[in-house]
Amino acid sequence: ENVYPLTNGVSYNSYVIMDKKTCLLDTVDESICNTFIKKVSEVLGLRKLDYLVINHMEPDHSATISNLLQKYPDVTIICNDKILAMFKNYFEDVAMPYVQVIKEGEVLDLGEHKLTFVFTPMVHWPDNMVTYSEEDKILFSNDIYGQHLASSKRFDSEVGLEISLQEAKKYYANIVLPYTKQAYKIASLAKNLDIEMIATSHGVIWRDHIPEILDLYDNMTTSAKQDKAVVVYDTMWGSTAKIAKAISEGFAEAGVTVSLFNINDTHASDIITQVMESKYLAIGSPTFNNNILPEIASFLCYLKGLAPVGLKYISFGSYGWGGQSVQIIKDELEALKFEELLPAIKQLYFPTNDNLQLIKQTAGYRLQKQTGRYKT
Ligand code: FEO
Repeated sequence: ENVYPLTNGVSYNSYVIMDKKTCLLDTVDESICNTFIKKVSEVLGLRKLDYLVINHMEPDHSATISNLLQKYPDVTIICNDKILAMFKNYFEDVAMPYVQVIKEGEVLDLGEHKLTFVFTPMVHWPDNMVTYSEEDKILFSNDIYGQHLASSKRFDSEVGLEISLQEAKKYYANIVLPYTKQAYKIASLAKNLDIEMIATSHGVIWRDHIPEILDLYDNMTTSAKQDKAVVVYDTMWGSTAKIAKAISEGFAEAGVTVSLFNINDTHASDIITQVMESKYLAIGSPTFNNNILPEIASFLCYLKGLAPVGLKYISFGSYGWGGQSVQIIKDELEALKFEELLPAIKQLYFPTNDNLQLIKQTAGYRLQKQTGRYKT
């Protein structure tokens, strides 16, 4: 999952239930294998490990299973059929442990605790599932509701609501977004579950702000949009930058919150987090070798993969000859089924002050029409 810089760190969370039977939910990344095995051993003490629930086989949650099996060879693995197929592929040299393949909705009885398994395919791999403990009202959600956020504290209110929600949003925008339809089903189901804690496999455990994280998922999985605009550009000699600024000023005067990004200054993961909840997107590049500048090409590639929906766009850029860049950007955004807000802005050499004023007024006018704020 290391698709973006982990500026606030990353944690791999694994949980133990001590009951008549002992149960471990998920393992961790290989980078912390020794610490993990030691901690599990400390928690279990002299007791054996009866069950290992595997909710997801991506290596950040499964890479240390073989090490765990060396210490607890008699453990029974609880998983679904897709996870079992991946397990055989990942660990072909490991002696097959006893495996209990469960079905959707099946219950595992640990004594006081009864675990129910809900399959969540494509959130964000085909094998994913979550585990619900009715007695504790805990949802062991694995990736869902997670954040790339590491702290010595464990719970949402200890780490801080604002950063926890922001990182949950960034995680969703960069990892889950292409699977929004599938995530919607899980978010809808979670709203109807009696939940007192969401024990994620990354970041904080949601305990004191369950309504807030469920609300955030409600918005993200229904592609809810705000009156926001994102303007992204690269520039060679400043012309495309001037157009970007003129568009931004026009948008801002129309009353929309605008985020203006030079692609070289901000990572694509932060930009996409803004794009996900915005209504408007403007992307610009000058023509460079009959093409667009590489950083904008990379951003468009990233955008295409994550496939946000429902945006209105402007393509823009300057040129000296050729002038292919705006059509290339336009084609990419049309392929995403975005709707054109304003005809492409294609500027020969340098934009005059009159041109910039016209761009600003036109962009603002179009947004005023969109938002119903236009008065004449
Ligand atoms: Fe955290 Fe999809 O693994």
